Amino acid sequence: MIAEDLFDLAPVIPVVVLDDAEAAVPLARALVEGGLPVIEVTLRTPSALDAIERIAAEVPDAVVGAGTVVLPEDAERSAAAGARFLVSPGCTSRLRAAMVATGLPFLPGVATASEAIALLEAGVTAMKFFPAEAAGGAAYLKALGGPLPRIRFCPTGGVTLGNAPDYLALGNVGCVGGTWLTPKDAVRDGDWDRVRKLASEAAALRSR
Ligand code: 3PG
Repeated sequence: MIAEDLFDLAPVIPVVVLDDAEAAVPLARALVEGGLPVIEVTLRTPSALDAIERIAAEVPDAVVGAGTVVLPEDAERSAAAGARFLVSPGCTSRLRAAMVATGLPFLPGVATASEAIALLEAGVTAMKFFPAEAAGGAAYLKALGGPLPRIRFCPTGGVTLGNAPDYLALGNVGCVGGTWLTPKDAVRDGDWDRVRKLASEAAALRSR
C-alpha cells in the first residue's frame, strides 16, 4: 500500500483520541460497519499504542494507523504496534526518515507551500494539510493546487460533516480527516450506534 491508496479506501479518515484501550475494538467495529475502514488513532493518550495493537489484531477489516507521530521513535513504536500507516501534524527531515524507515505509507503534515515543496523534493506526493480550517481552509488549499498540482492532501483540523464537501470537491484533496466521528461522550458511554451513524453519514460523502 502507498499513501495515495488510503485516499481510495474512504472519503473520511476518523481521527480517534482514545483514553481507554478497552473501547478500541468496539469503536473500530462501529466505524468499519458505518463504512469508514481507515482509522487514525492519535498518539495523544497513553493507551494509543495498545489501542492500535488491539484493532490490528481484532478488527481485520479496519486499516488502522497512528496519528500525531511527532518524534522518530513514535514512528518506530507505531509500526511495532501494528499500525499500517502513519500521520504527522508537521514534518522534519529526521521525522520523514524515521517514517520512511518503517516501510509504511505516511501522510506528513504541511501548512505552507515551502513545507510541501520540501517534501516534494524528497519524493512525497501525499500529505496531510493541517490545521486545515485555521490555516486558511478550502480556499487556501485550492490555491496551493495551482502551483503544486502533483500533491494530494488530506485536510484535517476543524473539518466537519458541514465543510468536508468543500474540501472533497477540490482536485487536490484525496480524503479528509477529523475527530467529529467519535465524540468524546459517545466513546465514553459506549454509544456505538451513534458512532456508526456518524460514520455512515461521512461515508456517503464522495471525493471527486
Ligand atoms: C488532527 O490531529 O488531525 C486534528 O487534531 C483533528 O482535528 P479536529 O479535532 O478539528 O477534527
